Amino acid sequence: MSKGSSQPSTAPHAADRGAWKSKFGFILAASGSAIGLGNLVFFASNAYQYGGGAFYLPYFIALFVLGIPVMILEFSAGTLTGRSFPMALRRLVGKRGEYVGWWSLSGALFITTYYVTILGWAMCMMVGALGGLFEPGATAPFAPFSEPSAGPNATAYFFGLIATWWPLLAVVAVWAMTIWSLWRGAETIEKVVRVCVPLMWVFMIVMIVRGVTLPGGMDGVLYLFTPDIAGILDVGVWKGAFAQMFFSLSLGLGTMTAYASYLPKDADHVNNSMLVSFMNCGFEYLAGFAIFAMLFAFSLNPVGGTLSLSFFAIPQGIAAFPFWVKAFGFAFFLLVVLAGLTSAISLVEGMASALIDKLGISRMKALAMVAVPGLVGSVLTALPFIVDPGLGGNGTFGLNLLDILDHWAFGYSLLTVGFLECILLGWVLGASRLREAINRHSKFHLGGWFDVLIKFVLPALLLAVIVLNLAVDLSNAFAGAPYGATNPLGWADWLPVVVPLVWLFGTLVLAYVLTNRRAAVELEPAPLAFED
Ligand code: PHE
Repeated sequence: MSKGSSQPSTAPHAADRGAWKSKFGFILAASGSAIGLGNLVFFASNAYQYGGGAFYLPYFIALFVLGIPVMILEFSAGTLTGRSFPMALRRLVGKRGEYVGWWSLSGALFITTYYVTILGWAMCMMVGALGGLFEPGATAPFAPFSEPSAGPNATAYFFGLIATWWPLLAVVAVWAMTIWSLWRGAETIEKVVRVCVPLMWVFMIVMIVRGVTLPGGMDGVLYLFTPDIAGILDVGVWKGAFAQMFFSLSLGLGTMTAYASYLPKDADHVNNSMLVSFMNCGFEYLAGFAIFAMLFAFSLNPVGGTLSLSFFAIPQGIAAFPFWVKAFGFAFFLLVVLAGLTSAISLVEGMASALIDKLGISRMKALAMVAVPGLVGSVLTALPFIVDPGLGGNGTFGLNLLDILDHWAFGYSLLTVGFLECILLGWVLGASRLREAINRHSKFHLGGWFDVLIKFVLPALLLAVIVLNLAVDLSNAFAGAPYGATNPLGWADWLPVVVPLVWLFGTLVLAYVLTNRRAAVELEPAPLAFED
């Protein structure tokens, strides 16, 4: 597909890579990837954790400074080369690029494992909404909080649920649906997103209307949008905002490059990036409206981790609706499932299409190579073993594993890949050459400021955030309190140490092995290929 002189245009598998039927199909798929658990589960909990108004300003800045520019990079890498992330980078900047690409996708594999688990829990809650979730006295086999609230208690229900074997079944179902949607590549993805993405928006609008019309609901919206200057001075808030922005826009994990590789060469990526980013962040703010409105309307105080807002507080809020409780509860979790599924599909596609590009293997084989280890990981994080019947509600092995893995894989992979991408494309390939190639097909022309952003501003910002956080994490670890050390497992003290090591060495080894495997079609750097 590439027209470079060093690259035969008749690569054996190039013709079957597939293509989007329409630009609309691509936009739906990319926005379906972007809008996911990140928007519904993580955004609200991050915004809450960092104090509402203190969060949205850094987040808003991150959209323009970080989000849209990096999306332009990732989209154009895919379209210019007609390849998925590792091979696209190899083509643009050589072997170093391929290492970064595979490292990023190895990280994606870890993240996908628990992403699917959370999705599986959401699916169980969805079914539970029709069953026992909203029944008075829904209780867990143990009491996770010292003062369990009377009546329907979503928290108790959730901890009861994850202590059963049902989530394992759900996790298998999510993997099966994901693989089924990817069976024929872009063609089947497009069919799935054409149904799921519009439905997602409809359910979201229903939730907002319900949320803001509740008495007191608007106070929550105001909380989210009242700037808090003191909070903004905290570097932690910026790290939270940056990582959340990357994740929410599906950046740093190879996904957007894979999706853009199925586009014709004349795609306008300035336009596409703005469209997808605005749709994603628009959805996110709307989700924030709905979630914060309910929090305030029902005076809920979500204690605990990331999941507590959407998994405990929202259902608790819905339980207090005067009517249609089960229907709203079901709709909310269906929304989470639909949004998460279209994102999981894209995560897996990013990895599978890269394996196809590199090894020239069939789609079925590539999907199996991702799904088998992925499913094992998802099952591990969904393991129901209860170790802590009495304490803080962190009761399963799987949940602890998930929490620690998330801290490392999510906290470091994306930003590090973003940093390396800026260095490789900005310096090795050359930001101005890339910009020229992008401008060739874009209505809005990127100016010289883009080069400054990619070469200096972004690497400096990302490096600062990574180093500052690493310093905190390492000093805690050496002081004998690595992240997750307060887990109530007792017998699993090794978990906070072993998990980051498995993640780090696992991803490095995978990246090394895959980069050094013989490719079906050797792609050597031909950065001038698109300057025809
Ligand atoms: N953007 C997705 C979300 O918000 C997650 C995701 C990240 C999907 C990276 C694909 C790649 O949930």
